[in-house]
Formats: sequence, structure tokens, C-alpha cells
Amino acid sequence: MTHALKSDTGSRNVKKLVRLGLGVAAAGAIVAAGLAPRVLAQSVPADAIAQTTALTTTIGQTQTLTVSQTEGPYFKTNSPERSALVTDSTQGTLLTVTGQVLAADGTPVANALLDFWQADASGAYDNSGYTLRGHQYTDENGNYTLTTVVPGLYPGRTRHIHVKVQAPGGPTLTTQLYFPGEARNSTDGIFDPSLVLNTQSNTDGTENATFNFVVQTA
Ligand SMILES: [Fe+2]
Repeated sequence: MTHALKSDTGSRNVKKLVRLGLGVAAAGAIVAAGLAPRVLAQSVPADAIAQTTALTTTIGQTQTLTVSQTEGPYFKTNSPERSALVTDSTQGTLLTVTGQVLAADGTPVANALLDFWQADASGAYDNSGYTLRGHQYTDENGNYTLTTVVPGLYPGRTRHIHVKVQAPGGPTLTTQLYFPGEARNSTDGIFDPSLVLNTQSNTDGTENATFNFVVQTA
């Protein structure tokens, strides 16, 4: 990144100005239409508003791209399309993760691909089948919902969920999601605090979590 900026400063500045100009124009149009600031969290349930306040975004507000991480050894292609990875026989703590896929300018990305895979509650991956593996697409507001269980621990790693995210026509982001308050977070060499889920424990023993992905769209 640094090298690119040094070697191509002039044209990059022009591009940046063009982008800023477009951004200001777009923001002006939104204000004129009486829509600003438009908080993009329409589909978040009312009881989850307080929890997700920090995750809401505004059009035109530059977002930090979600950090990429290693794929690890257990990814499998051709996962089934499904947002619920659990079945009646799945053991573990039920976990529902919700959020949005966003572009760098905060715009929700519709029809973005999310492909999740994870260990079961005992820390084992299904490498012969597709248990706790599945892909889905964001809705028209960039929202996704993952119904799964809290993954178990396995040697050498802290608790995590793997995911690949791809906007239509964009590059694939491979990353991992983490859990707050895990003792192993401080010793896991891959762990990144920017990838920690915002979790909430429910009185019925289940857990909810939120996470927004920010991805490149071209
Ligand atoms: Fe893993």
C-alpha cells in the first residue's frame, strides 16, 4: 500500500478527489431528499436495537474493510445453500448471528455470498460431509442471518467461526469471527480483536450475536 501511494501519488490523488466529489454530490442529493442521515438497520428486530447501535452505518460514511485471515485447513467447496446450519440433532448452545455486508462507503451489499464453516460443540470439523457448513446470500438490504451453535475449542486455537464473503463481482474476503471473553484470545496467534462478535446471552440459554462485514465491491 505504501509503495503504491509513493509511486503513483498524482493519479491516486485525482482519483481520490473524484471519489470525494461523487461522495459529496451523493450526500447532497440525500439531504435534499430529506433522507439523511439514513441509518441502515431497517431489519434489525426492535429488541436488538440497543445491542446493535454501534453497528449501524450511514451512507457516505467510510468504513474500515474487514480484516482478512487465513482460510485454515478445513474449508470445503460446494457447501449447501442454507442459513441454518443446525438440525434437530445438533448439540451445543444455539447461536444466531445477524448483520450486514457493507461496501466501503457504508452502502449495504445485496446478494453478497457468505459461506460459513466451523467446528461442532466438541471442537470437531466435519471433513467428510457438510455438517455446520453452509452458504447464503444477503437480502436486498445487505442483511444475513446465521443460525448455528457456539463452536467448541480444539487444540491450538481460540473459539472461532470461519467465513468467506464476496460481493457480486468483488474479490472474496476470507476471515474468521471470534467470541469475547475467551481465555485463549490472548494466546491465539491468529486472533484479531476487530473480528470479535458482539454477543448477547439470552435467558433461555441461547446466544445472539451481531457482526457487519465491510468488503470490496469491485
Ligand atoms: Fe478453524
